[in-house]
Amino acid sequence: MTGAAAGIGRAYAIGLARAGAAVAVADINEAGAKETAALIEADSGHAVPFAVDISDRASTLRLGDAVRDQLGNAHIVVNNAAIFHKLEKHPLLTVDIGYWRNVFSVNLDGALLVTQAFAPQLISNGWGRVIVQTSTAAYTGPGMYGATKLALLALIRGFAKELGGYGVTVNGIAPGATMTDAMLDTVPQERLGEILAAQVIKRHGSTDDLVGPLLFLCSDAAAWVTGQTLLVDGGATPRL
Ligand SMILES: NC(=O)c1ccc[n+]([C@@H]2O[C@H](COP(=O)([O-])OP(=O)(O)OC[C@H]3O[C@@H](n4cnc5c(N)ncnc54)[C@H](O)[C@@H]3O)[C@@H](O)[C@H]2O)c1
Repeated sequence: MTGAAAGIGRAYAIGLARAGAAVAVADINEAGAKETAALIEADSGHAVPFAVDISDRASTLRLGDAVRDQLGNAHIVVNNAAIFHKLEKHPLLTVDIGYWRNVFSVNLDGALLVTQAFAPQLISNGWGRVIVQTSTAAYTGPGMYGATKLALLALIRGFAKELGGYGVTVNGIAPGATMTDAMLDTVPQERLGEILAAQVIKRHGSTDDLVGPLLFLCSDAAAWVTGQTLLVDGGATPRL
């Protein structure tokens, strides 16, 4: 479970632990990962914190080995980590190419590298779930962040095709605006009303709203669902 130090990733990690999973809480923010793991342990779950930079191949390979050594083969891989905070401050006309490449290396390459690192474990189980956190920005986002999340849709379809024969499904979750600290820090207050107006369910989304869809996609109830991306957005995004 990457990006589990805060926000949606923390809620996902807690939700998976409550469903009975031993959770590898992985994040570049090691202190936050430790905090999430401690919350899970205090909640009678089992979790181990790991430091990882998902944009770095050696780091993701080390994570794969460390998780297998400490918790056994992974069965579920949740690619949730991303650079999301304050991306709206980087319009296409002026974004620095180095910054652009860094965002792509985390948001897109990260899901590739983490899935590559864990795929052998899922394949050897003969059962696995890979979840990729994309966004409604994949459909409606106009800039750099949307571009990274749109590219993930192709990654989801491609991994689904390559892993389907091994009993491994690969699906995406595309949340709408979800009230995390990073979101509230990124989106100006006045935009929150516009976001609500666009939804057919007239309340803001919380991290808990995303946990049920995650558990469904990870369960055997979703055994015949793969290569899909589930929009979880209070009905904000018209289907294309
Ligand atoms: N909050 C929303 O409204 C919203 C909507 C749609 C999609 N999302 C997506 O959901 C995910 C979580 O969003 P959030 O709001 O909880 O944001 P967040 O910033 O709280 O969480 C992102 C986590 O990723 C970690 N991370 C960043 N770079 C990393 C790296 N190189 N290696 C490992 N970990 C790294 C961060 O430390 C952080 O803990 C992201 O993929 C985001 O794009 C969020």
